[in-house]
Amino acid sequence: MSKHRILILGGTTEARHLAGALASRRDCDPTLSLAGRTADPMSQPVPVRSGGFGGSDGLAAFLRQEHFDLLIDATHPFATRISDNALVAAKQAGIPCFALCRPAWEPMPGDRWTGVASVAEAVAVLGDAPRRVFLAIGRQEVSHFQNAPQHAYIIRSVDAVVPPLAVPDTCYILATGPFGEEAEKQLLTAHRIDVIVAKNSGGSATYGKIAAARKLGLPVIMVERRRPAGIRTVQTVDEALDLLDHIVSPDMKRGV
Ligand SMILES: NC(=O)c1ccc[n+]([C@@H]2O[C@H](COP(=O)([O-])OP(=O)(O)OC[C@H]3O[C@@H](n4cnc5c(N)ncnc54)[C@H](OP(=O)(O)O)[C@@H]3O)[C@@H](O)[C@H]2O)c1
Repeated sequence: MSKHRILILGGTTEARHLAGALASRRDCDPTLSLAGRTADPMSQPVPVRSGGFGGSDGLAAFLRQEHFDLLIDATHPFATRISDNALVAAKQAGIPCFALCRPAWEPMPGDRWTGVASVAEAVAVLGDAPRRVFLAIGRQEVSHFQNAPQHAYIIRSVDAVVPPLAVPDTCYILATGPFGEEAEKQLLTAHRIDVIVAKNSGGSATYGKIAAARKLGLPVIMVERRRPAGIRTVQTVDEALDLLDHIVSPDMKRGV
């Protein structure tokens, strides 16, 4: 039996779980693709390739050269460039493509969210008066906050922020989730945080800070998502497996 060659664009827990589910299937030959930015990436249950493709053309060429039958974009909800590229490249390569993207968090009673469209907008929303800000947005876009040096920043990321932020009052915390609500409450209290800046990533691993903020009555500036339109999207690994079965069934091979 020839196996279905599947490229999973990863860097998320969901991508790893999907890869694990496909690894045990005799009809699938999955490869996981990582951006290659994390210094110490987690081990993965399938073959991994690492690093950018060189835009959508590079990705399309890779899909063709390696004879992939299906592309699954299981990247982080905020990894918009690679998601845009995935859609274009799959079309160019003439193979089906779908996205696995966890649902966004929804505000609950007691939440004090201000929704913004970008990290740059979050900086503006912080205002002029000095505040103690917990930045939990990863490290890539932290430099925007140099435009508001009057605030004190407590910055948590998996890898170090390089170069460090050029503002006088910073504290760096290197840590990998998941982060529970109780520990987050203690951290927010210990650092006397006034406001949190977060990305609406969804999922449970980083929700602790949001639940903790609700309990403590703290405001959250929530950067909302921008996902590419026009790509079929499922929200869970089980839904991804169902859709995959549908696509690779003999009479539906090119159906998405
Ligand atoms: N953004 C976040 O908040 C966040 C959080 C957690 C995890 N991640 C993960 O970290 C990775 C990078 O995120 P990002 O926000 O930098 O993405 P991005 O801005 O959408 O992508 C920037 C470039 O990185 C390369 N790239 C991204 N993901 C890749 C993948 N899975 N495999 C191969 N190349 C990839 C592509 O380079 P080329 O154009 O050269 O192909 C892409 O154009 C993603 O895999 C994502 O799932 C991101």
